Amino acid sequence: MVATGVAAYQNLGDYQRILPTWLEQPGVLAWVYELNGVRRGMAMLGFYGEPNAAGGLTIVADLLALAVAAEFRNAGIGRILLDHVIEVATRIASSTNACWLRLTVEASNLGAQRLYSRAGFTFDPSVTTTYESGLTGLRMRRPI
Ligand SMILES: CC(C)(COP(=O)(O)OP(=O)(O)OC[C@H]1O[C@@H](n2cnc3c(N)ncnc32)[C@H](O)[C@@H]1OP(=O)(O)O)[C@@H](O)C(=O)NCCC(=O)NCCS
Repeated sequence: MVATGVAAYQNLGDYQRILPTWLEQPGVLAWVYELNGVRRGMAMLGFYGEPNAAGGLTIVADLLALAVAAEFRNAGIGRILLDHVIEVATRIASSTNACWLRLTVEASNLGAQRLYSRAGFTFDPSVTTTYESGLTGLRMRRPI
C-alpha cells in the first residue's frame, strides 16, 4: 500500500514517511485493490474531529489517498476504489454527523480532478494547501 502511494505521489513529498503515520491514526480506514495476487491500487479514508466556531468538534471525512500503480491505470480501478470510499463514508456519515467527504488534489492533476468531478466532487475555492514539495493542493468536496 505504501509503495503504491510513494510511487504515485513522488512529486508531492516524502510519502514513505507520511503514509505510515496516517495509517497509524485511529479513525483511518484503508483498502487495497488486488487482482490475481497483484496489488494494483489503494485508498485511505480518515475521519477527524475539527474545532468549529461554536467551540465543538465538526466531524470531517477525508479521502487521504487514492493511488493506482502506473501500469494498471485507465482500467477503472481508481473509480472502483473511489466509489467504495464514497459508499463507506456515506454509510458511516449518519453515525458520525459528517456532512462532507473532502480531498486535496494537486492543482495540475487534471485527470484525477476529472475523476472526482464525475463522482460528484466540486472545488472549495476557500481552501488551498501546499504540499511538502511546494506544489499547490486544491480542496474538493462532496456531500455525503
Ligand atoms: C488518479 C488515479 C487514482 C486514477 O486511477 P485510474 O485507475 O487510472 O482511474 P480510472 O481508470 O477509474 O479512470 C481514469 C480514466 O480511465 C478511463 N477508464 C475507466 N475505465 C476504463 C476502461 N475499462 N478502459 C479504458 N479507460 C477506462 C476513465 O474514463 C477515465 O478517463 P478520463 O481520462 O477521461 O478521466 C491514478 O491515475 C493515479 O494513481 N494517479 C497518481 C496518484 C493521484 O494522482 N492520485 C489522486 C490524487 S490524491
